[in-house]
Amino acid sequence: MRDLPWPARVYLVAVIGAAAALIARAGVVSGMPVATGDLDVLLVLALLFLVCESMPTLLNVEQFAVSVSFSASLAAVVLIGPEGAALVGLTAVLSVRPGLPLIKRLFNGAQFAICGYAAGQVYLALDGRVGVPQVNAFDDLIGPYAAATAVYVPLNIVLTLTMVALATGVRDTEVPMRGMAQFLLSYLGYGTFGLLVAGLWATVQSISAVLVLLPLFVARWAFGQYHAQQRSYDATIAALCQAVETKDYYTRGHCTRVSHASSMIAQEIGMGLERVRAIRYAGMLHDVGKLGVPTKVLQKDGPLTEEEFAAIQLHPMRGLEIVRGIGFLDEAYAGIMHHHEKHDGTGYPMGLAGDEIPEFAKVIAVADAFDSMTSDRSYRGARPVPVAVEELRKSAGTHFDPVMVDAFIRALEREPWQPPRRVDPPPPEAVATTIKDHDDPTTPIQVVTGP
Ligand SMILES: [Fe+2]
Repeated sequence: MRDLPWPARVYLVAVIGAAAALIARAGVVSGMPVATGDLDVLLVLALLFLVCESMPTLLNVEQFAVSVSFSASLAAVVLIGPEGAALVGLTAVLSVRPGLPLIKRLFNGAQFAICGYAAGQVYLALDGRVGVPQVNAFDDLIGPYAAATAVYVPLNIVLTLTMVALATGVRDTEVPMRGMAQFLLSYLGYGTFGLLVAGLWATVQSISAVLVLLPLFVARWAFGQYHAQQRSYDATIAALCQAVETKDYYTRGHCTRVSHASSMIAQEIGMGLERVRAIRYAGMLHDVGKLGVPTKVLQKDGPLTEEEFAAIQLHPMRGLEIVRGIGFLDEAYAGIMHHHEKHDGTGYPMGLAGDEIPEFAKVIAVADAFDSMTSDRSYRGARPVPVAVEELRKSAGTHFDPVMVDAFIRALEREPWQPPRRVDPPPPEAVATTIKDHDDPTTPIQVVTGP
């Protein structure tokens, strides 16, 4: 608590004080569920809340992890009223999340109690009937329950985000609004589970909680598996990138930056989430075929022979051979294989032109050339971003697809590019350095023909 700024401390004390006051008042004025014979319902819902609160669940957005404990709190609104909902929320104090300090648990318990109580009051104000719902009166619950959820969810988010903002100094404008909208919708959707728990209570009592929430826990397990799988994919890709970049001192970080620039273009042209993920992988792996090109060719000083240049031109095909067995790459294959095709058909390996070039390859070609130009190379310093943008503009319609160039320029206006920091000359002890960068459109590789 001492680490918190004073406004956060004042807010924390105010929230905990408000929760304590409303529970004390509710106990005196209305009587607690303990006194009204609902102790068994309270205990089951409190236990349910506690189990959910101790196992935060990743919802269908990547930015937020949240527990579905509020379903139990909202079920309590229907089954035992506002005071019961407040008590159920208060059990968050006892949650056993590893590493969650007492002060956070106190805050969580207090804010859940306030949300439950406020939602319960709204439910009552709209003539929602407290108690086990009758089958023929279930329809009457839906309106008041929806209103209670519509109060509970935003109040919970506002109370929590205010605490986060005061404790960390993060301004509201820094909260990703698109992610927040998804989060809010998911949260409201999960709120319906509380109504199901309450509705089933008349027939199967406490078993209703298990019936309704068991699928949620299965979904949670599946989400966990999915995220673990994604992490292993990322680690595999990162290892392959590292292997490519050890061949060349000056291209460290190139794969990651091409991946980022590719995803900027992909988002700008409206690709869906799955395709953006795939193009991130393609950007990371676009030059993996360099592993199949002799290092002495990559590092050769001076013009290349036709054979040596042919070896360089083979790297997209080699890349495809290397990653062909990796099933999750899907469309990324096309990006890796064709990232050196040119819009006018003079590129390699197939000489495709215009719309014959796969979309992923068109995107990566722009990202690849831009990062090459804005990075240090052994034979020249990094070009400033405006110079590189001008080069892209000049070559739009010949080397690059003009749609992708325009999209990247628009994306750069929204998200300024952070060029890599200057590369110090490599230490003398045999660090691999490519002499000419095949991705650099401003300095073509020279090829000598004939013997
Ligand atoms: Fe390449």
